[in-house]
Amino acid sequence: MSAERFVDEVRGPEDLARYPPEYTKAIGKIVVSHAVNELKGAMTFDEPAIRMAPTPKYKWLVSRNTMEEFNHHILFARLAEAMGLEWKDKKPLTIFDYPMVDWPRFGAIKAVVDVAELIELDDLVASTYLPLRKVAKDTYPDEQFHVGLGREIVRTLLAEDPANRRRLQTAFDELVPPTLDFFGSSSSANNELFVRWGLKRRSNEAMRQEYFRQVREYLESAGFTMPPVPDKYREEIAR
Ligand SMILES: [Fe+2]
Ligand SMILES: [Fe+2]
Repeated sequence: MSAERFVDEVRGPEDLARYPPEYTKAIGKIVVSHAVNELKGAMTFDEPAIRMAPTPKYKWLVSRNTMEEFNHHILFARLAEAMGLEWKDKKPLTIFDYPMVDWPRFGAIKAVVDVAELIELDDLVASTYLPLRKVAKDTYPDEQFHVGLGREIVRTLLAEDPANRRRLQTAFDELVPPTLDFFGSSSSANNELFVRWGLKRRSNEAMRQEYFRQVREYLESAGFTMPPVPDKYREEIAR
């Protein structure tokens, strides 16, 4: 993959006409996918969890988390709309098909699934398209709060009832393998485009490896086992 970047900084949609259409197309793919997935996640995972939250403190914190996820959708959807792009007909990722069944599952989702978004944002905060860079910087602390909230819920559940360890491990086993798909295919032409245009720094493979490393470190430090790697990623994760 070429490390050469064709563009330094682009201030906004009004300047996109100065660059080849593939740059606009690449930004569009990123912002549309975020607009769709932030909305789907907020509706599937976060909003139902407000009802499941067992205490006033958690209802408050989960409400804040949910408001932020809906707001992330708005921020990315505005970027898409400013570029004249439609996001409504795009399908969300399959990770969001997993229903929110109970409170331990919500803790597990926030503790490990939102880490994937932070890893993605680690690249987008240096993006050449400044409106995207700004949204990435603005949403970053929220995602850190979401991961911290999830891990706090996990700690509390473990302290309350030892039987929660098994429930949480089951949730991690179900959630981590499909989250590896979040980063896209390792031989992705889109990814090559994102790197070439300075929208992201790393390959999908490198981001997936980093995700695996961070989640394994967290799970093992909390006394859980890292779920087995799906066959399709085994070689890549071992590298
Ligand atoms: Fe988010
Ligand atoms: Fe989040």
